[in-house]
Amino acid sequence: MSGSNDNAIPADLPLRNDLLGEEPYGAPQLDVPVCLNVNENPYPPTHAVVRSIEKRVREAAKDLNRYPDREHMELRQAFVDYLAKESGAKLTTDMVWGANGSNEIMLQLFQAFGGPGRTALGCDPTYSMYPEYARDTFTQWRIVPRKEDFTLDLDRTLEAIRDLEPAMVLLTSPNNPTGTPLPMEQLERILEACQDARVAGAAEGTRPVVVVDEAYIEFRDPGVPSATTLVGTYGNLAVSRTMSKAFAFAGARVGYLAASAGIIDCMRIVRMPYHLSAVTQAAALAGFDNTAEQLSQVAHLRETRNETAAWLREQTYRGIPLQVAPSQSNFLMFGGHFDDRGLIFDEMLKRGVLIRVVGPEGWLRVCMGTDEEMKVFRKALTESLRAAEAAHDQQD
Ligand SMILES: Cc1ncc(COP(=O)(O)O)c(C=O)c1O
Repeated sequence: MSGSNDNAIPADLPLRNDLLGEEPYGAPQLDVPVCLNVNENPYPPTHAVVRSIEKRVREAAKDLNRYPDREHMELRQAFVDYLAKESGAKLTTDMVWGANGSNEIMLQLFQAFGGPGRTALGCDPTYSMYPEYARDTFTQWRIVPRKEDFTLDLDRTLEAIRDLEPAMVLLTSPNNPTGTPLPMEQLERILEACQDARVAGAAEGTRPVVVVDEAYIEFRDPGVPSATTLVGTYGNLAVSRTMSKAFAFAGARVGYLAASAGIIDCMRIVRMPYHLSAVTQAAALAGFDNTAEQLSQVAHLRETRNETAAWLREQTYRGIPLQVAPSQSNFLMFGGHFDDRGLIFDEMLKRGVLIRVVGPEGWLRVCMGTDEEMKVFRKALTESLRAAEAAHDQQD
């Protein structure tokens, strides 16, 4: 196992006071046959794509004595072209920006717009890294609870924007861990509200930046618009994307942002010099050289999601059918009434299937694997639910 959290920080190290007792973030990386816990794409790059990466990286290797293009202009053009094709967004290279995963994009947003005296607002349950970006940038993290069906509570969100005067409003579409999409009408209501909202701790006349995290957006049903199409209209909208999920490129660590040129300039202030290595840029360009191939399994994973959701709804635990949160992503949050979800997780693990204990109590999350993996998942879950029921009955 790697990525264990049982690190003991020596007491004589002056770790920041607010970090004392903190654990490194990350899902367990266990060596098990079926890993369905971190929302990856289960289909690896094809031989043709691997060859294309080799070619690009070999070229880049010849110049590794030099720093890479700090502005990664060729890659930014690839982002523009891809977003035009994928979402119909009309952008220019000064309106996109890349980084090492959308994790780094998010951290840069917090570095630019958060900070002491600033507040970032999110809608819980949501991606568990947001509070960590806030912690690391001394930004106050505040949340509005989602409704029972995990959709946004628009009224309370608008109220919080008025009352808390956040510098950043973080919206995730589709949301992780619930899979819930954010309807464009709701996003536009929030964007409109932010036009004349105030930002505590900032100069008069500034307004909150609305960040939409679209890490999983390619898995939405066809025809559903992306927030990137609104970037030209709203100067305070920042849409984060990644190559890690639908693009099947998690190991390459490439995320990107679509936003006004003004927001991109703010990112340029906080980025590390040469933050995106020449090798990363070359690999990402090779990915975009093969967009159709890289994304070829998305429609199938969408079908897998729909079929798995229907199957899960037919399963029961202690006589009650499982709930499944409606998802526009490549994962499903299911259960809703697991009284000991850790036990079900352990039973799954015993059967070689790694899922994730995340989200509200009573729920578990699984991401879509290959057809073969999903067969193993179904069998393992059926057995695990029965085993957990038996353990429960013994206790009663
Ligand atoms: C909602 C969301 N945003 C961002 C990320 C970060 O992805 P990456 O840094 O690989 O682009 C994840 C990863 O799981 C996520 O779930």
